[in-house]
Amino acid sequence: IEAALGAGPLAGRRVLVTSGPTHEPIDPVRYIANRSSGAQGAAVARALAELGAEVVFVTGPAEVPPPLGVQVVRVETAQQMLEAVQAALPVEAAVFAAAVADWRVAQASDRKLKKSRDGLPVLEFAENPDILKTVARMEEGRPALVVGFAAETDDVIAHARAKRERKGCDWIVANDVSPETGIMGGDENAVVLITEEGVEEWPRMGKEEVARWLAARIAAALGA
Ligand code: CTP
Ligand code: CA
Repeated sequence: IEAALGAGPLAGRRVLVTSGPTHEPIDPVRYIANRSSGAQGAAVARALAELGAEVVFVTGPAEVPPPLGVQVVRVETAQQMLEAVQAALPVEAAVFAAAVADWRVAQASDRKLKKSRDGLPVLEFAENPDILKTVARMEEGRPALVVGFAAETDDVIAHARAKRERKGCDWIVANDVSPETGIMGGDENAVVLITEEGVEEWPRMGKEEVARWLAARIAAALGA
């Protein structure tokens, strides 16, 4: 309701959220992708919009529909996602919740590959652009707050800290998906927020609640 009235702590603040998987074509009928419903990204975008933000929602082909009240930009591939993100700048905060495919097929075929006498196809891969890293390391026009997500196992905090450094982002929202947490495929998340100041362990909660906590933290960080 606040958002509908143009109110809320993030009123007039422009933010960006990436979401969903990317699809990297092999040929006109096949692709490689990460498993991602797009639920977490959609929840983050919704929570930011509910605080009044003007949200640009750049999404790959997700299972869940985009939230209402956001500006939706649909893409397929990581390269398209990077271009859409760059076109959406400047923003005050950017949250990268997409499960971007790390690799694409170097030479996608414009003809359907056929089962053939010549044996199995051999796919050659090329590395996709790292969208989060590209934005986090911008020298001009970098969003004031850049947030990445990471699903990790084992030493979650060490992995997430290293990832934060490597990417150059401000925060990493790390989800502990070690088998013993029972998180993977479940309804709850075990989130650790890694910032410059340190490590915050959040209580176990659902994706919607993670999104609301994160949106509130973003509003506070932007001084809203
Ligand atoms: N990300 C991105 N572009 C990519 C890969 C990842 O924007 N090409 C973002 C994701 O949206 C996420 C963060 O980077 O916010 C971390 O993604 P992750 O896959 O955990 O990081 P990688 O550097 O790809 O490391 P890994 O080898 O663990 O997959
Ligand atoms: Ca990856």
